[in-house]
Amino acid sequence: MPIFVKDRIFVLETEHTQYAFGVDENSYSRHLHWGAKCDPADFFMQTFGDENSNHTMLDEYRQEYTVFGSTMYRACALKVRFPDGCREVELQYLDYEKAEDTLKVRFQDRSYPLRVTLCYKITAGLDILTRWVTLENTGDAPILLEKVCSAEFSLPSQKPYTFRNTNGAWGGEGVECVQTLTGGALVFESRRGISGHNQSPYFIAYQNADEFSGDVFFAALAYSGNFKVSASRDLYSFTRVHMGLNDFDFSYTLKGGETFETPKVFFGCTEGFGDMSRQMHKFVRRAVLPKAFAEKPLPVLYNSWEATGFDVNSENQMRLAEKAAAAGVELFVMDDGWFGARSDDRAGLGDWFVNREKFPNGLRELIEHVNALGMDFGIWVEPEMVNADSDLFRAHPDWTYHYNTRTPHELRNQRVLNLTRPDVQAYLFERLDALLTENNIRYVKWDMNRPFSETGAENLENPQMLWYLHTMAVYDLVDRLRARHPQVQFESCASGGGRSDLGALLHFDEVWPSDNTDAIDRMTLQKTYTLLRPVKTMRAWVTDVGGPNKPTSLEFRFNIAMQGALSLGGNLTKYSDADMAICKKNVELYKEIRPLVQFGDLYRLADADEDEFLCTQYVDPEKKQSVVFLAARGTRFYKKRVTLRLAGLEPTRRYRLDFDGNALEKSGAYLMEVGLPAHIRGADYNKIVRIFTAE
Ligand code: GLA
Repeated sequence: MPIFVKDRIFVLETEHTQYAFGVDENSYSRHLHWGAKCDPADFFMQTFGDENSNHTMLDEYRQEYTVFGSTMYRACALKVRFPDGCREVELQYLDYEKAEDTLKVRFQDRSYPLRVTLCYKITAGLDILTRWVTLENTGDAPILLEKVCSAEFSLPSQKPYTFRNTNGAWGGEGVECVQTLTGGALVFESRRGISGHNQSPYFIAYQNADEFSGDVFFAALAYSGNFKVSASRDLYSFTRVHMGLNDFDFSYTLKGGETFETPKVFFGCTEGFGDMSRQMHKFVRRAVLPKAFAEKPLPVLYNSWEATGFDVNSENQMRLAEKAAAAGVELFVMDDGWFGARSDDRAGLGDWFVNREKFPNGLRELIEHVNALGMDFGIWVEPEMVNADSDLFRAHPDWTYHYNTRTPHELRNQRVLNLTRPDVQAYLFERLDALLTENNIRYVKWDMNRPFSETGAENLENPQMLWYLHTMAVYDLVDRLRARHPQVQFESCASGGGRSDLGALLHFDEVWPSDNTDAIDRMTLQKTYTLLRPVKTMRAWVTDVGGPNKPTSLEFRFNIAMQGALSLGGNLTKYSDADMAICKKNVELYKEIRPLVQFGDLYRLADADEDEFLCTQYVDPEKKQSVVFLAARGTRFYKKRVTLRLAGLEPTRRYRLDFDGNALEKSGAYLMEVGLPAHIRGADYNKIVRIFTAE
């Protein structure tokens, strides 16, 4: 029985872990445990009073969900303003509701018609829990929500935790920062309207951990807008984490009779980072991704952006498509430039009509050609944006976020459409629905290329709601288009990985993680991407990027891109026959190993930054097959004679592999305990080793 309830004590069990909290006699929700399994009957509620006038019990309590008010002075999870001006919440326990995999614990404010429900869900067979909160206004007058977290966490050890997050930027998404929190607070957030390229809406807190061992606690927020993750450690040595919608410039008017549901948080604890990733990969595929493609292998795609830029036309796309088909590509995606008066980034956004100069016969001719070559066709859109130089903006200058008294800031010559307006939503739905209805399109790359500014929205009574409502409007549009066009896959892109969070993955099938397609940089970016997100959602292009200071061979670039959802993005019309042969060979190989890469268990055996070489292993769930990728940009000091100890295999099973020209047959135990001798040497080192069960 995965959920135990006794005397207001609630114990949730996953495959290997346990999470417990209770409600005390004063109705405070109190965190009790997060970690290994104990006897659920052993949990009890310890209550204590104020120590002295400056050391209050509420400040010390490890609450499951702390509300603002009374003698609680640290960060809270919920702050509201009632119609009469009262700004404190005081909760009274009501009751709970338990189903097979779900628990809901309800509270009611003692004096106001606000109901707060803490919700939890278990996913059978995995170690990941889901939690969220609902707020219901059971009265008539509006209640203003000023801060609403999805979750509050208390970490078990009173020793300091180290936190992994990112300190990235465009082109450098996923560059990690690691900080130990000994006191005060750490904040990771976005204030840009999207989750962004900088910090990430998750926390990974650990002690003495590496890929295979140590205590790792993690949680990811399923939200693509302004978020905030704040961790603090107090004088009593307790580390708490709050996560949810950013309270920066946020408020939400909860009208009488309405219920607000926070974004969900997925969380767990594991031994080591490797198990964290493997758990999350399975969980996201099973319980987060849209069902349509979650268990289907993603096609090898070609994207035109780096080859033809804005200069797309029927002719050059057909030529590219022929080359892509010859390389074995399954899906041809035409990027920016096909619509409106789009010849560069100064015009056209918003006019989602085919440019007839570039495509005199519409898109049909190109799509039919692509289909005749045996590929599906996909297309790029950036629906949330408008160029001032567009028919849409000329007709509706008031459709953007703006203040009449402020100069609108354009970034990349574009402004953000006010997606909280029903007429804007209707226009976008009509245009995109028509595009997908009139053309045989199987793939949409949904882009978003600038953060918000001048965030006025006259249509809203409470414009501070726009940050949240915009994100919900994007989700809603995508969901409605998916319902009408279930055959279409959706990719989330925002100038690369600006919207690559788990909220996006509730609605999109995959992500464009970065505009940076340099294989050397990708070694780092892809590692961070796959910490909490499945490999199969990570689009990875082989392009012509490299340059004089970071030269990489085509084989090397394939090696790196094949560790995700392989795609091609170079200018194939300029490739020599030898290069085309390399493309064809690797695409063929990828199709064979794709089930392992996209659905297997990932083991990070060596790290490009720490170890100078990258070694990544994928093992199928039955442990019958495996593939190992090795890559190094170049080694120093002649020191890279390494023993590769593999992972994830069945110890007693015999495996065969070809290693450096030697046909070997070894037990899983040998490969994992003793390992393989490898010589990582020279620039551009790359190797792919396949492992099979011996007959
Ligand atoms: C963004 C995307 C790119 C490409 C361009 C097109 O930068 O991240 O992949 O689609 O827009 O303008």
